[in-house]
Amino acid sequence: MSVSRLFSTDIYSASLVDSRGFDDLNSDLADMAAMLANDDEAGVKWCNENGYDGYTSYSSLDDLTRRATCFRDLGRLVTKHAGDFASQLEMDTAGRRIVMDSMWVNVLRHGGRHPAHIHPHSVLSGTYYVSVPRGSASIRFEDPRLGLMMAAPPPIPNCRLDRQRFVNLEPKVGDLLLWESWLRHEVPVHKARTVRISVSFNFRLT
Ligand SMILES: [Fe+2]
Repeated sequence: MSVSRLFSTDIYSASLVDSRGFDDLNSDLADMAAMLANDDEAGVKWCNENGYDGYTSYSSLDDLTRRATCFRDLGRLVTKHAGDFASQLEMDTAGRRIVMDSMWVNVLRHGGRHPAHIHPHSVLSGTYYVSVPRGSASIRFEDPRLGLMMAAPPPIPNCRLDRQRFVNLEPKVGDLLLWESWLRHEVPVHKARTVRISVSFNFRLT
């Protein structure tokens, strides 16, 4: 007998801490995030109106690669990884390039969370982790077949990772995660007293 495994869901993970100039880059990203959280009035207004506990520039400034050198440098680094990931996925890009078309920053406060969502109209999405204090929220991915399972029994406790319905990953400072944009994910409640800072991005084909 044999059992075949079909329809895989891949999460790409890399640490950027060994990149040249990492400490300065990460420090600049943290400074810029704090500055934007203080100065971006449109973004703060959107967060207040939409119940985001902290600050995100998602609705106001999603072109950060054009606004500061540190974001531009991060974008270049991440784009290289996105190309590698697309190759590993054996994605048929039909000769087109995979390009980052948006980048925004997230500053999550104690008690804040980000409900489950996907990133429509994108090919790849991901997050880079700038500041992850002890007790930070994880990122939680959902089995994309969940809505079809109906009477399927749940897997046994502590089953293999690729059989679990939900998987929580706990990124560290300098980690980069990438996934296909249709994969639903959420950020559970952030329990640390200090903020969790991340930078997120979407890619499309051009
Ligand atoms: Fe997201």
